[in-house]
Amino acid sequence: MSLDDAVAKPHERLAKALAGDLDAVNALIRTRMASRHAPRIPEVTAHLVEAGGKRLRPMLTLAAARMCGYDGPYHVHLAATVEFIHTATLLHDDVVDESGQRRGRPTANLLWDNKSSVLVGDYLFARSFQLMTETGNMRVLSILSDAAATIAEGEVLQLTAAQDLRTTEAVYLQVVRGKTAALFSAATQVGGVIAGMDEDTIAALHAYGDALGIAFQIVDDLLDYQGDTKATGKNVGDDFRERKLTLPVIKAVALADATERAFWARVIEKGDQRDGDLEHAIDLLNGHGTLATTRQEALDWAATARAAMQRLPASDLRDMLTGLSDYVVARIN
Ligand code: IPE
Ligand code: IPE
Ligand code: MG
Ligand code: MG
Repeated sequence: MSLDDAVAKPHERLAKALAGDLDAVNALIRTRMASRHAPRIPEVTAHLVEAGGKRLRPMLTLAAARMCGYDGPYHVHLAATVEFIHTATLLHDDVVDESGQRRGRPTANLLWDNKSSVLVGDYLFARSFQLMTETGNMRVLSILSDAAATIAEGEVLQLTAAQDLRTTEAVYLQVVRGKTAALFSAATQVGGVIAGMDEDTIAALHAYGDALGIAFQIVDDLLDYQGDTKATGKNVGDDFRERKLTLPVIKAVALADATERAFWARVIEKGDQRDGDLEHAIDLLNGHGTLATTRQEALDWAATARAAMQRLPASDLRDMLTGLSDYVVARIN
């Protein structure tokens, strides 16, 4: 291994190891995001797709398939399907969250409008279904369509839990498993399924994706309070403004005294937010140490992901996926 490889971040090592496959996925995405009849579609999709994105989920599918010895063509279709589903949910999510920045660029809802984001998101969902059917594998169709339904459920559950100070950590976990981890675990699972692996292996791949996705979203929620816009490509404070009960806030509300409770009730329940409230909220999170305890939970989920990977046969790709669980949490170091 060269010095470069040794120091490269796990997702960069994965991208390098999977470079040929990833090029094929990106080419397929570019072909299928086009539309002959509605020019607005390639405009919006190109804006988002060309901004990059980490391509984490398609790499999970490619790595899972390759480490299971798959040498057919359909892991590329599956990886592109997963990234299409992801991109569709981002378009919808930025409308729902009224977000203004994504992948370091203004969001599509800001540059065009909500209508375009919703409809182009629908188009990408439909394109993802077309892509997955080309594999002719009923089991992967079932896993990916289940994931699409679960993501939507997670987003709707979050909608009804927002602004509600009674939201528990159990509900938070359900939201995160739905809106984020479902696609991670589907991404890893279909890699094993297309390679024709046994049920134990597929279960280990699912367990890895599930835990990795949960760790990833917990970290994403931490970054919403303590991130750097330049590094994340998204605005800090979006969740607070949207009155979302993410883990650090749920923990701080549980520890709040009467004055602090009144503050949370005003900003989260009533939505009466003023200058300095976000800073005060961050002070409260720090005061109760809930950013640190939340980070510890992310580390625990990363450890669960690592343990699941140990159930698979040793390989370079397995090591990279194991390392990815550390990288996901290292975003908040
Ligand atoms: C963003 O996912 C949505 C979440 C689940 C937090 P990513 O951070 O993987 O987004 P891109 O694809 O790299 O932009
Ligand atoms: C991301 O949820 C999950 C989906 C896109 C389904 P968030 O709303 O927490 O993610 P960001 O912070 O906008 O990327
Ligand atoms: Mg969002
Ligand atoms: Mg959201």
